[in-house]
Amino acid sequence: MNGLSREGIEDLRSPLARVVEVHDAVASTQELARKLARAGTPHGTLVVAGVQKGGRGRLGRHWGSPEGGLWMSLVLRPGLVAGHASRITQTAAVGVAGALWEIGVEARIKWPNDLLVGGKKICGILAESGVGPGGRLDYAILGIGMNANLDPSDLGVMDRGVTTIRHELGRDVDLLLLLGVVLSNLDATLARIEDFETVLDEWRNLNCTLGERVRVRRFGETIEGQAIDLTPEGALLLATPDGTVELFEGEIEQLGST
Ligand code: BTN
Repeated sequence: MNGLSREGIEDLRSPLARVVEVHDAVASTQELARKLARAGTPHGTLVVAGVQKGGRGRLGRHWGSPEGGLWMSLVLRPGLVAGHASRITQTAAVGVAGALWEIGVEARIKWPNDLLVGGKKICGILAESGVGPGGRLDYAILGIGMNANLDPSDLGVMDRGVTTIRHELGRDVDLLLLLGVVLSNLDATLARIEDFETVLDEWRNLNCTLGERVRVRRFGETIEGQAIDLTPEGALLLATPDGTVELFEGEIEQLGST
């Protein structure tokens, strides 16, 4: 399957791949990882699939996952208070963006965690968590969908807003090498999650949202404003004609710089 095997991944000796499952085809690695998490699998459990038949994106959207992509979910037990769960999503975006730069793809982060190249999405990140007793996170499932050795047209999405590593580099990449770079960057950024200001500084260096005019739909209304900065917990601060608005989650549309 795409050059990825359990033995090959175990040889990476990543602390994020202590337990490894590799499947040719599954409904969604996210669901498998959640089952493992609920059954008590340790921090650093990795589920990878060659194809996902029911890949899920944020907001319940379908995530096209044909052969050639890197479709993976990690079980993490970061020991965070539940109120800090949203840190995982931006921390992961910094780690995965760093991995893409390392292989020559100049990815930028669109708030909160979409990875884009030239405004087109190359990777999606989905972080979901389960809370345990005492208000701490029991586990987080970090799903990463990397459009790797594919043509944009393989992804079956109608809009032109997607790209792939093959398209950007003009060649395919070794998925095991890519996975190794992703895991080592993630491990390094996740280690700093308690020092979230430094993660957000890197996020700021890599982002393509701050300074842009954005539109967001929430609670049945549409808000437009200029993205000015992040709060210490990573919420987006929008300057609007009615004052500053904090966005904690959601999907923004970037309208360009002013
Ligand atoms: C997004 O909407 O941008 C997030 C997409 C996340 C897709 C990945 S692919 C591996 C994992 N399994 C899923 O079903 N979803 C995530």
